[in-house]
Amino acid sequence: VAQRELSEMELRALDYIEQNTPLSLQQHVVGTRDLALEINRRQSLGLDEEKISLASLLHDVARLFSSDQLVFGLKAYGLDPDSFDYAVPMLLHVELGAEIAKREIGVEDEDVLNAIRLHATGSAGMSVLDKLIYVADKVEPLRDYPGVGDLREFALRDLNAAFPVVISSVLKYLIDAGHPLDYNSVTAYNESIRDLVNQKVGQKIE
Ligand SMILES: [Fe+2]
Ligand SMILES: [Fe+2]
Repeated sequence: VAQRELSEMELRALDYIEQNTPLSLQQHVVGTRDLALEINRRQSLGLDEEKISLASLLHDVARLFSSDQLVFGLKAYGLDPDSFDYAVPMLLHVELGAEIAKREIGVEDEDVLNAIRLHATGSAGMSVLDKLIYVADKVEPLRDYPGVGDLREFALRDLNAAFPVVISSVLKYLIDAGHPLDYNSVTAYNESIRDLVNQKVGQKIE
């Protein structure tokens, strides 16, 4: 595959994560990017590679912030942390991440910012890019949990079919670990299951 030249914004994103995040996190986001690009190519999804790259590289830029730091960071950008309704404060890293992408890197593309915002919980009405980043994040090569290899192969073969399986495995994990479920995740799961059933029976159900 011909290598695309990186854009100014991607170089800025790479530079930013090198300056501001530890090596393990850099490896995670680069692994997410490379897998997402590969899924896009193999399945000819036709998504813009720069969008995939920026969303992947920046999705966890605030992942290691403490709850207090997330609240402080959002307020510093003029956002109200209480306006977001997530199951756990850690999930605010998606909002601060999108804001950092906008303010520090100059990302204005709403497709990219939404993919960053939705990467942890999912939501109703996800775009293909949203699902791609969600899935690649959960099954990138450095992820290590039982069954992840099969999920990665599945995602490489068929992103659409893999999405409900990946999101259910995340929900099962959260339940087994005694963590609360975010409403957006449950909505995303329900919608993905309905989509699957619709594909199978070839008719719409409500
Ligand atoms: Fe994350
Ligand atoms: Fe991640």
